[in-house]
Amino acid sequence: MEFLDELKKELDQELEHRRSIFKPNWEKYLDFDYIPKNPLHRKEEIKDISIKLIDSITQRITRNILIYGNPGTGKTMCFKIAMTVAEDYLREKGLENFKIIYVRATGSRVSQAMYDICKNLGINAPKRGISFKEYISYLEEFINGQDNLHSHMY
Ligand SMILES: Nc1ncnc2c1ncn2[C@@H]1O[C@H](COP(=O)(O)OP(=O)(O)OP(=O)(O)O)[C@@H](O)[C@H]1O
Ligand SMILES: [Mg+2]
Repeated sequence: MEFLDELKKELDQELEHRRSIFKPNWEKYLDFDYIPKNPLHRKEEIKDISIKLIDSITQRITRNILIYGNPGTGKTMCFKIAMTVAEDYLREKGLENFKIIYVRATGSRVSQAMYDICKNLGINAPKRGISFKEYISYLEEFINGQDNLHSHMY
Protein backbone atom coordinates (compact mmCIF):
# COMPACT_ATOMS: atom_id res chain seq x y z
CA MET A 1 0.00 0.00 0.00
CA GLU A 2 2.83 2.28 0.90
CA PHE A 3 4.32 1.70 -2.53
CA LEU A 4 1.09 2.61 -4.32
CA ASP A 5 0.50 5.70 -2.20
CA GLU A 6 4.00 6.89 -2.84
CA LEU A 7 3.64 6.25 -6.56
CA LYS A 8 0.36 8.18 -6.75
CA LYS A 9 1.92 11.08 -4.89
CA GLU A 10 4.82 11.16 -7.32
CA LEU A 11 2.40 10.96 -10.25
CA ASP A 12 0.51 13.91 -8.83
CA GLN A 13 3.67 15.95 -8.54
CA GLU A 14 4.89 14.97 -11.99
CA LEU A 15 1.56 15.76 -13.67
CA GLU A 16 1.29 19.05 -11.83
CA HIS A 17 4.79 19.97 -12.98
CA ARG A 18 3.94 19.07 -16.60
CA ARG A 19 0.79 21.18 -16.50
CA SER A 20 2.77 24.13 -15.22
CA ILE A 21 5.27 24.06 -18.13
CA PHE A 22 3.01 23.22 -21.09
CA LYS A 23 0.90 25.85 -22.81
CA PRO A 24 -2.85 25.48 -22.25
CA ASN A 25 -4.41 23.24 -24.94
CA TRP A 26 -1.00 21.83 -25.83
CA GLU A 27 -2.63 18.61 -27.08
CA LYS A 28 -4.29 20.64 -29.84
CA TYR A 29 -0.90 21.71 -31.22
CA LEU A 30 0.35 18.14 -31.42
CA ASP A 31 -2.73 16.81 -33.19
CA PHE A 32 -1.89 15.73 -36.74
CA ASP A 33 -4.85 17.75 -37.99
CA TYR A 34 -3.61 21.01 -36.44
CA ILE A 35 -2.74 23.74 -38.92
CA PRO A 36 -0.88 26.77 -37.55
CA LYS A 37 -2.45 30.17 -38.17
CA ASN A 38 0.89 31.86 -38.85
CA PRO A 39 3.19 29.33 -40.52
CA LEU A 40 6.74 30.62 -40.51
CA HIS A 41 9.11 30.73 -43.52
CA ARG A 42 6.79 28.92 -45.90
CA LYS A 43 5.01 31.73 -47.76
CA GLU A 44 6.73 31.06 -51.09
CA GLU A 45 6.05 27.32 -50.97
CA ILE A 46 2.39 27.87 -50.05
CA LYS A 47 2.05 30.46 -52.83
CA ASP A 48 3.58 28.10 -55.38
CA ILE A 49 1.29 25.20 -54.49
CA SER A 50 -1.76 27.53 -54.41
CA ILE A 51 -0.97 28.80 -57.93
CA LYS A 52 -0.64 25.25 -59.25
CA LEU A 53 -3.93 24.22 -57.68
CA ILE A 54 -5.73 27.28 -59.03
CA ASP A 55 -4.23 26.71 -62.51
CA SER A 56 -5.35 23.09 -62.50
CA ILE A 57 -8.89 24.06 -61.68
CA THR A 58 -9.27 27.09 -63.92
CA GLN A 59 -7.09 26.19 -66.91
CA ARG A 60 -7.46 22.41 -67.12
CA ILE A 61 -3.67 22.24 -67.12
CA THR A 62 -2.24 19.31 -65.23
CA ARG A 63 0.77 20.51 -63.28
CA ASN A 64 3.11 18.24 -61.39
CA ILE A 65 3.74 19.03 -57.78
CA LEU A 66 6.61 17.39 -55.96
CA ILE A 67 6.83 18.38 -52.33
CA TYR A 68 9.91 17.01 -50.63
CA GLY A 69 11.71 17.55 -47.35
CA ASN A 70 12.72 15.91 -44.11
CA PRO A 71 10.02 14.52 -41.82
CA GLY A 72 8.11 17.19 -39.96
CA THR A 73 9.31 20.11 -42.07
CA GLY A 74 5.79 21.13 -43.10
CA LYS A 75 5.04 19.38 -46.42
CA THR A 76 1.53 18.39 -45.38
CA MET A 77 0.99 21.72 -43.65
CA CYS A 78 1.94 23.69 -46.79
CA PHE A 79 -0.38 21.64 -48.97
CA LYS A 80 -3.30 21.92 -46.57
CA ILE A 81 -2.90 25.68 -46.21
CA ALA A 82 -2.52 26.08 -50.00
CA MET A 83 -5.70 24.07 -50.43
CA THR A 84 -7.63 26.52 -48.24
CA VAL A 85 -5.99 29.52 -49.93
CA ALA A 86 -6.93 28.19 -53.39
CA GLU A 87 -10.50 27.40 -52.31
CA ASP A 88 -11.00 30.85 -50.80
CA TYR A 89 -9.43 32.59 -53.79
CA LEU A 90 -11.57 30.74 -56.32
CA ARG A 91 -14.78 31.29 -54.35
CA GLU A 92 -13.99 34.99 -54.04
CA LYS A 93 -13.67 35.02 -57.85
CA GLY A 94 -17.12 33.48 -58.12
CA LEU A 95 -16.12 29.91 -58.98
CA GLU A 96 -18.11 27.35 -57.05
CA ASN A 97 -18.14 24.16 -59.09
CA PHE A 98 -14.87 22.59 -57.97
CA LYS A 99 -13.63 20.34 -55.23
CA ILE A 100 -10.16 19.75 -53.81
CA ILE A 101 -9.94 16.45 -51.98
CA TYR A 102 -7.04 15.60 -49.69
CA VAL A 103 -6.55 11.89 -49.01
CA ARG A 104 -3.71 9.82 -47.60
CA ALA A 105 -2.47 6.92 -49.72
CA THR A 106 0.42 5.32 -47.87
CA GLY A 107 1.68 1.84 -48.77
CA SER A 108 -1.13 -0.62 -49.31
CA ARG A 109 -3.84 1.92 -48.54
CA VAL A 110 -4.32 3.04 -52.14
CA SER A 111 -7.76 1.38 -52.29
CA GLN A 112 -8.74 3.22 -49.13
CA ALA A 113 -7.67 6.50 -50.76
CA MET A 114 -9.67 5.69 -53.91
CA TYR A 115 -12.67 4.87 -51.75
CA ASP A 116 -12.24 8.16 -49.86
CA ILE A 117 -12.14 10.11 -53.15
CA CYS A 118 -15.33 8.40 -54.35
CA LYS A 119 -17.04 9.03 -51.02
CA ASN A 120 -16.10 12.71 -51.13
CA LEU A 121 -17.65 13.00 -54.57
CA GLY A 122 -20.82 11.19 -53.50
CA ILE A 123 -20.03 8.13 -55.63
CA ASN A 124 -21.47 4.95 -54.16
CA ALA A 125 -18.43 2.66 -54.64
CA PRO A 126 -17.79 -0.40 -52.43
CA LYS A 127 -15.35 0.08 -49.59
CA ARG A 128 -13.35 -3.06 -50.38
CA GLY A 129 -13.16 -5.97 -52.78
CA ILE A 130 -12.61 -3.99 -55.97
CA SER A 131 -9.41 -3.12 -57.78
CA PHE A 132 -7.77 0.25 -58.39
CA LYS A 133 -8.91 0.03 -62.02
CA GLU A 134 -12.50 -0.47 -60.96
CA TYR A 135 -12.35 2.63 -58.76
CA ILE A 136 -11.02 4.53 -61.77
CA SER A 137 -14.03 3.29 -63.76
CA TYR A 138 -16.35 4.64 -61.08
CA LEU A 139 -14.59 8.00 -61.28
CA GLU A 140 -14.65 8.03 -65.09
CA GLU A 141 -18.35 7.28 -65.12
CA PHE A 142 -18.96 10.10 -62.65
CA ILE A 143 -16.85 12.63 -64.60
CA ASN A 144 -18.26 11.67 -68.01
CA GLY A 145 -21.79 11.93 -66.65
CA GLN A 146 -21.41 15.64 -65.95
CA ASP A 147 -20.99 18.63 -68.20
CA ASN A 148 -17.54 20.11 -68.57
CA LEU A 149 -15.99 18.32 -65.60
CA HIS A 150 -12.33 17.38 -65.37
CA SER A 151 -10.09 15.93 -62.70
CA HIS A 152 -6.43 16.04 -61.72
CA MET A 153 -4.70 13.64 -59.39
CA TYR A 154 -1.40 14.50 -57.75
N1 LIG B 1 6.78 26.55 -40.84
C1 LIG B 1 6.01 26.08 -39.86
N2 LIG B 1 5.40 26.90 -38.98
C2 LIG B 1 4.61 26.41 -37.99
N3 LIG B 1 4.34 25.10 -37.80
C3 LIG B 1 4.92 24.24 -38.65
C4 LIG B 1 5.78 24.66 -39.73
N4 LIG B 1 6.19 23.57 -40.42
C5 LIG B 1 5.63 22.51 -39.82
N5 LIG B 1 4.86 22.91 -38.76
C6 LIG B 1 4.09 22.02 -37.90
O1 LIG B 1 4.89 20.88 -37.64
C7 LIG B 1 4.14 19.69 -37.68
C8 LIG B 1 4.70 18.75 -38.73
O2 LIG B 1 4.44 19.29 -40.02
P1 LIG B 1 3.93 18.39 -41.24
O3 LIG B 1 3.07 17.27 -40.75
O4 LIG B 1 3.34 19.30 -42.26
O5 LIG B 1 5.31 17.81 -41.74
P2 LIG B 1 5.60 16.84 -42.97
O6 LIG B 1 6.76 17.43 -43.69
O7 LIG B 1 4.34 16.61 -43.75
O8 LIG B 1 6.05 15.53 -42.20
P3 LIG B 1 6.05 14.00 -42.73
O9 LIG B 1 7.28 13.84 -43.59
O10 LIG B 1 6.17 13.21 -41.47
O11 LIG B 1 4.77 13.75 -43.48
C9 LIG B 1 2.69 20.10 -37.96
O12 LIG B 1 1.98 20.21 -36.74
C10 LIG B 1 2.85 21.45 -38.62
O13 LIG B 1 1.70 22.23 -38.44
MG1 LIG C 1 3.23 14.84 -44.18
